[in-house]
Amino acid sequence: EACRILQKGGLVAFPTETVYGLGGDAMYSEASAKIYAAKGRPSDNPLIIHIADMEHLDKIVEEVPEAAHKLAEAFWPGPLTMIMNKSDAVPHGTTGGLDTVAIRMPSDPIALELIRQGGGYVAAPSANTSGRPSPTTAQHVYEDQGKIPMILDGGAVTIGLESTIVDLTEEIPTILRPGYISLEMVQAVLGEAKMDKGLISSDSNIHPKAPGMKYRHYAPKAPVTVVTGPAEASARTIEQLAKPGDGVICFDEFADRFDQQTVECLGPSRDKRIQAQRVFDALRTFDSK
Ligand code: TXA
Ligand code: MG
Repeated sequence: EACRILQKGGLVAFPTETVYGLGGDAMYSEASAKIYAAKGRPSDNPLIIHIADMEHLDKIVEEVPEAAHKLAEAFWPGPLTMIMNKSDAVPHGTTGGLDTVAIRMPSDPIALELIRQGGGYVAAPSANTSGRPSPTTAQHVYEDQGKIPMILDGGAVTIGLESTIVDLTEEIPTILRPGYISLEMVQAVLGEAKMDKGLISSDSNIHPKAPGMKYRHYAPKAPVTVVTGPAEASARTIEQLAKPGDGVICFDEFADRFDQQTVECLGPSRDKRIQAQRVFDALRTFDSK
Protein backbone atom coordinates (compact mmCIF):
# COMPACT_ATOMS: atom_id res chain seq x y z
CA GLU A 1 0.00 0.00 0.00
CA ALA A 2 2.87 2.37 0.81
CA CYS A 3 4.38 1.70 -2.63
CA ARG A 4 1.05 2.43 -4.30
CA ILE A 5 0.93 5.79 -2.51
CA LEU A 6 4.43 6.62 -3.81
CA GLN A 7 3.55 5.54 -7.35
CA LYS A 8 0.53 7.85 -7.31
CA GLY A 9 2.73 10.79 -6.30
CA GLY A 10 1.88 10.72 -2.58
CA LEU A 11 4.14 10.81 0.48
CA VAL A 12 5.14 8.00 2.85
CA ALA A 13 7.36 8.37 5.91
CA PHE A 14 9.68 5.41 6.45
CA PRO A 15 12.50 4.26 8.72
CA THR A 16 16.13 4.27 7.62
CA GLU A 17 19.11 3.30 9.78
CA THR A 18 20.01 7.01 10.22
CA VAL A 19 16.72 8.87 10.80
CA TYR A 20 13.15 8.58 9.49
CA GLY A 21 12.65 9.94 5.98
CA LEU A 22 9.68 11.63 4.32
CA GLY A 23 9.55 9.92 0.93
CA GLY A 24 8.13 10.79 -2.47
CA ASP A 25 8.85 9.76 -6.07
CA ALA A 26 12.14 11.55 -6.87
CA MET A 27 11.49 11.58 -10.61
CA TYR A 28 8.19 13.39 -10.24
CA SER A 29 8.47 17.10 -9.43
CA GLU A 30 5.01 17.30 -7.92
CA ALA A 31 5.91 14.70 -5.29
CA SER A 32 8.99 16.75 -4.37
CA ALA A 33 6.80 19.85 -4.15
CA LYS A 34 4.58 18.00 -1.67
CA ILE A 35 7.65 17.13 0.43
CA TYR A 36 8.73 20.78 0.58
CA ALA A 37 5.20 21.80 1.56
CA ALA A 38 4.83 19.11 4.26
CA LYS A 39 8.19 19.99 5.84
CA GLY A 40 7.82 23.75 5.43
CA ARG A 41 11.24 23.59 3.78
CA PRO A 42 12.79 26.32 1.60
CA SER A 43 12.61 25.08 -2.01
CA ASP A 44 16.31 25.81 -2.69
CA ASN A 45 17.31 23.14 -0.16
CA PRO A 46 17.78 19.95 -2.24
CA LEU A 47 16.54 16.45 -1.39
CA ILE A 48 18.52 13.20 -1.23
CA ILE A 49 17.50 10.49 -3.74
CA HIS A 50 17.43 7.04 -2.15
CA ILE A 51 18.15 4.00 -4.32
CA ALA A 52 18.18 0.29 -3.53
CA ASP A 53 20.38 -1.12 -6.31
CA MET A 54 23.67 0.01 -7.88
CA GLU A 55 22.25 -0.42 -11.41
CA HIS A 56 19.84 2.42 -10.68
CA LEU A 57 22.67 4.91 -10.22
CA ASP A 58 23.46 5.33 -13.95
CA LYS A 59 20.08 6.79 -14.83
CA ILE A 60 20.30 9.72 -12.42
CA VAL A 61 23.94 10.84 -12.78
CA GLU A 62 25.97 12.15 -15.69
CA GLU A 63 28.72 9.68 -14.93
CA VAL A 64 29.72 7.61 -11.92
CA PRO A 65 33.17 8.76 -10.74
CA GLU A 66 35.72 6.15 -9.68
CA ALA A 67 35.54 7.50 -6.11
CA ALA A 68 31.81 6.72 -6.02
CA HIS A 69 32.46 3.07 -6.88
CA LYS A 70 35.01 2.84 -4.08
CA LEU A 71 32.82 4.54 -1.48
CA ALA A 72 29.78 2.50 -2.47
CA GLU A 73 31.82 -0.67 -2.16
CA ALA A 74 32.90 0.36 1.35
CA PHE A 75 29.77 2.00 2.77
CA TRP A 76 26.61 1.16 0.75
CA PRO A 77 24.07 0.20 1.77
CA GLY A 78 24.65 2.52 4.71
CA PRO A 79 24.85 6.03 6.17
CA LEU A 80 26.71 7.76 3.32
CA THR A 81 25.31 10.23 0.77
CA MET A 82 27.30 11.12 -2.35
CA ILE A 83 26.90 14.23 -4.51
CA MET A 84 27.45 13.84 -8.25
CA ASN A 85 26.49 15.71 -11.41
CA LYS A 86 22.89 14.91 -12.20
CA SER A 87 21.51 13.55 -15.47
CA ASP A 88 18.62 15.16 -17.35
CA ALA A 89 16.27 12.52 -15.93
CA VAL A 90 16.33 14.14 -12.50
CA PRO A 91 13.93 17.08 -12.20
CA HIS A 92 15.30 20.36 -10.82
CA GLY A 93 12.33 20.30 -8.47
CA THR A 94 14.09 17.51 -6.56
CA THR A 95 17.57 19.10 -6.51
CA GLY A 96 16.52 22.58 -5.42
CA GLY A 97 17.49 23.89 -8.85
CA LEU A 98 21.05 22.50 -8.69
CA ASP A 99 22.75 20.51 -11.47
CA THR A 100 24.14 18.12 -8.86
CA VAL A 101 22.24 15.40 -7.04
CA ALA A 102 22.65 13.76 -3.62
CA ILE A 103 22.26 9.96 -3.59
CA ARG A 104 22.15 7.39 -0.81
CA MET A 105 21.50 3.66 -0.56
CA PRO A 106 20.15 3.04 2.96
CA SER A 107 20.55 -0.33 4.68
CA ASP A 108 17.23 -0.54 6.51
CA PRO A 109 15.31 -3.48 4.96
CA ILE A 110 11.95 -1.66 5.08
CA ALA A 111 13.49 1.31 3.27
CA LEU A 112 15.07 -0.93 0.62
CA GLU A 113 11.82 -2.76 -0.06
CA LEU A 114 9.85 0.47 -0.26
CA ILE A 115 12.35 1.93 -2.74
CA ARG A 116 12.41 -1.23 -4.90
CA GLN A 117 8.66 -1.59 -5.12
CA GLY A 118 7.94 2.15 -5.12
CA GLY A 119 9.67 2.96 -8.41
CA GLY A 120 13.38 2.81 -7.56
CA TYR A 121 14.00 6.47 -6.74
CA VAL A 122 12.70 7.88 -3.48
CA ALA A 123 13.45 11.50 -2.59
CA ALA A 124 13.53 11.78 1.18
CA PRO A 125 14.62 14.45 3.59
CA SER A 126 14.54 13.72 7.29
CA ALA A 127 10.83 13.58 8.20
CA ASN A 128 10.91 16.40 10.76
CA THR A 129 9.31 19.78 10.22
CA SER A 130 12.03 22.01 8.76
CA GLY A 131 14.32 23.27 11.54
CA ARG A 132 13.25 20.70 14.19
CA PRO A 133 15.38 17.82 15.52
CA SER A 134 15.37 14.82 13.16
CA PRO A 135 12.92 11.99 13.96
CA THR A 136 14.35 8.73 15.27
CA THR A 137 11.00 7.03 15.96
CA ALA A 138 7.68 6.81 14.09
CA GLN A 139 6.12 8.72 17.01
CA HIS A 140 8.47 11.68 16.33
CA VAL A 141 7.34 11.66 12.71
CA TYR A 142 3.71 11.63 13.77
CA GLU A 143 4.28 14.70 15.99
CA ASP A 144 5.61 16.66 13.02
CA GLN A 145 3.82 15.07 10.04
CA GLY A 146 0.42 13.93 11.36
CA LYS A 147 -1.30 14.73 8.06
CA ILE A 148 0.65 12.64 5.54
CA PRO A 149 -1.08 9.51 4.17
CA MET A 150 1.19 6.91 5.78
CA ILE A 151 4.00 6.41 8.29
CA LEU A 152 5.77 3.04 8.27
CA ASP A 153 6.78 2.16 11.83
CA GLY A 154 10.10 0.29 11.95
CA GLY A 155 10.82 1.02 15.61
CA ALA A 156 13.67 3.22 16.86
CA VAL A 157 16.48 3.74 14.34
CA THR A 158 19.90 2.22 15.02
CA ILE A 159 22.24 5.13 14.14
CA GLY A 160 20.21 8.21 15.06
CA LEU A 161 22.21 10.84 13.11
CA GLU A 162 21.90 11.71 9.44
CA SER A 163 24.16 10.26 6.79
CA THR A 164 27.57 11.78 6.09
CA ILE A 165 27.45 13.78 2.84
CA VAL A 166 30.48 13.61 0.52
CA ASP A 167 30.68 15.90 -2.50
CA LEU A 168 32.37 14.14 -5.42
CA THR A 169 32.01 17.05 -7.83
CA GLU A 170 35.02 18.88 -6.35
CA GLU A 171 38.61 18.07 -7.22
CA ILE A 172 39.14 16.71 -3.71
CA PRO A 173 36.17 14.78 -2.26
CA THR A 174 34.66 17.04 0.39
CA ILE A 175 32.47 16.29 3.40
CA LEU A 176 29.57 18.74 3.39
CA ARG A 177 27.79 17.31 6.43
CA PRO A 178 29.47 15.24 9.17
CA GLY A 179 27.75 12.02 10.20
CA TYR A 180 28.33 8.47 11.32
CA ILE A 181 31.03 7.92 8.68
CA SER A 182 33.99 10.08 9.64
CA LEU A 183 36.49 12.01 7.50
CA GLU A 184 39.13 9.43 8.49
CA MET A 185 36.92 6.57 7.23
CA VAL A 186 36.46 8.32 3.87
CA GLN A 187 40.19 9.10 3.65
CA ALA A 188 41.01 5.46 4.35
CA VAL A 189 39.05 4.49 1.22
CA LEU A 190 39.92 7.36 -1.14
CA GLY A 191 43.34 8.45 0.08
CA GLU A 192 42.38 12.10 -0.08
CA ALA A 193 39.31 13.89 1.30
CA LYS A 194 38.64 17.08 3.25
CA MET A 195 36.02 18.88 5.30
CA ASP A 196 34.00 21.70 3.72
CA LYS A 197 35.62 24.97 4.87
CA GLY A 198 32.18 26.37 5.64
CA LEU A 199 31.77 23.77 8.41
CA ILE A 200 35.05 24.33 10.22
CA SER A 201 36.06 27.93 9.51
CA SER A 202 35.56 30.52 12.23
CA ASP A 203 35.11 33.10 9.43
CA SER A 204 31.36 33.63 9.18
CA ASN A 205 31.75 34.86 5.59
CA ILE A 206 32.60 31.31 4.49
CA HIS A 207 29.27 29.53 4.07
CA PRO A 208 28.67 25.76 4.11
CA LYS A 209 28.17 24.32 0.61
CA ALA A 210 25.20 22.10 1.52
CA PRO A 211 22.24 24.50 1.46
CA GLY A 212 20.66 22.74 4.45
CA MET A 213 23.62 23.56 6.70
CA LYS A 214 22.98 27.30 6.30
CA TYR A 215 19.52 27.21 7.80
CA ARG A 216 18.65 26.88 11.46
CA HIS A 217 18.36 23.14 12.08
CA TYR A 218 18.02 20.47 14.82
CA ALA A 219 16.33 23.10 16.98
CA PRO A 220 13.89 22.08 19.71
CA LYS A 221 11.24 24.54 20.87
CA ALA A 222 13.08 25.41 24.09
CA PRO A 223 16.22 27.59 24.06
CA VAL A 224 19.39 25.48 24.26
CA THR A 225 22.87 26.22 25.58
CA VAL A 226 25.52 23.91 24.15
CA VAL A 227 28.61 23.23 26.27
CA THR A 228 31.55 21.68 24.43
CA GLY A 229 34.89 20.37 25.68
CA PRO A 230 36.20 17.40 27.65
CA ALA A 231 33.44 15.52 29.49
CA GLU A 232 34.39 16.31 33.09
CA ALA A 233 35.09 20.00 32.42
CA SER A 234 31.81 20.33 30.49
CA ALA A 235 29.86 18.74 33.33
CA ARG A 236 31.35 21.27 35.75
CA THR A 237 30.41 24.14 33.45
CA ILE A 238 26.85 22.82 33.21
CA GLU A 239 26.71 22.65 37.02
CA GLN A 240 27.54 26.36 37.12
CA LEU A 241 25.06 27.31 34.37
CA ALA A 242 22.02 25.16 35.16
CA LYS A 243 19.28 26.77 37.21
CA PRO A 244 16.78 24.75 39.26
CA GLY A 245 14.05 23.46 36.95
CA ASP A 246 16.20 23.55 33.81
CA GLY A 247 16.58 20.46 31.66
CA VAL A 248 20.06 18.97 31.43
CA ILE A 249 21.26 16.57 28.75
CA CYS A 250 24.48 14.97 29.97
CA PHE A 251 26.51 11.77 30.01
CA ASP A 252 25.41 8.97 32.34
CA GLU A 253 28.23 9.38 34.86
CA PHE A 254 27.28 13.00 35.64
CA ALA A 255 23.51 12.52 35.96
CA ASP A 256 23.42 12.51 39.78
CA ARG A 257 25.03 15.96 40.00
CA PHE A 258 21.80 17.54 38.78
CA ASP A 259 19.17 16.79 41.40
CA GLN A 260 17.55 20.25 40.97
CA GLN A 261 17.11 19.67 37.22
CA THR A 262 15.31 17.27 34.89
CA VAL A 263 17.95 15.03 33.32
CA GLU A 264 18.12 13.14 30.02
CA CYS A 265 21.14 10.84 29.77
CA LEU A 266 23.06 10.50 26.51
CA GLY A 267 24.86 7.31 27.51
CA PRO A 268 28.44 7.00 28.79
CA SER A 269 30.83 9.82 27.78
CA ARG A 270 33.04 7.30 25.97
CA ASP A 271 30.28 5.79 23.83
CA LYS A 272 29.62 8.05 20.87
CA ARG A 273 27.45 5.43 19.18
CA ILE A 274 24.85 5.53 21.95
CA GLN A 275 25.10 9.33 22.20
CA ALA A 276 24.27 9.58 18.48
CA GLN A 277 21.24 7.33 18.93
CA ARG A 278 19.87 9.42 21.79
CA VAL A 279 20.61 13.06 21.10
CA PHE A 280 17.61 14.00 18.90
CA ASP A 281 15.27 11.98 21.11
CA ALA A 282 16.56 13.80 24.20
CA LEU A 283 15.82 17.19 22.63
CA ARG A 284 12.32 16.09 21.63
CA THR A 285 11.65 14.54 25.05
CA PHE A 286 12.34 17.88 26.72
CA ASP A 287 9.97 19.60 24.31
CA SER A 288 7.18 17.21 25.21
CA LYS A 289 7.89 17.57 28.94
O1 TXA B 1 20.44 10.21 6.73
C1 TXA B 1 19.95 10.96 5.88
O2 TXA B 1 20.66 11.48 4.99
C2 TXA B 1 18.45 11.24 5.94
C3 TXA B 1 17.71 9.93 5.66
C4 TXA B 1 16.22 10.13 5.56
O3 TXA B 1 18.24 9.34 4.50
N1 TXA B 1 18.08 12.28 5.03
C5 TXA B 1 18.41 13.59 5.23
O4 TXA B 1 17.91 14.48 4.29
O5 TXA B 1 19.09 13.97 6.16
P1 TXA B 1 17.80 16.05 4.53
O6 TXA B 1 17.00 16.55 3.38
O7 TXA B 1 17.26 16.34 5.88
O8 TXA B 1 19.26 16.60 4.39
C6 TXA B 1 19.87 16.62 3.12
C7 TXA B 1 21.06 17.55 3.13
C8 TXA B 1 20.67 19.02 3.20
O9 TXA B 1 21.59 19.70 4.05
C9 TXA B 1 20.86 19.46 1.76
O10 TXA B 1 21.12 20.84 1.64
C10 TXA B 1 22.03 18.60 1.31
O11 TXA B 1 21.78 17.36 1.91
N2 TXA B 1 22.06 18.37 -0.15
C11 TXA B 1 21.19 17.64 -0.88
N3 TXA B 1 21.50 17.69 -2.19
C12 TXA B 1 22.61 18.46 -2.29
C13 TXA B 1 23.42 18.89 -3.38
N4 TXA B 1 23.14 18.55 -4.64
N5 TXA B 1 24.49 19.68 -3.10
C14 TXA B 1 24.77 20.03 -1.82
N6 TXA B 1 24.04 19.67 -0.75
C15 TXA B 1 22.97 18.89 -0.98
MG1 MG C 1 17.14 17.12 7.77
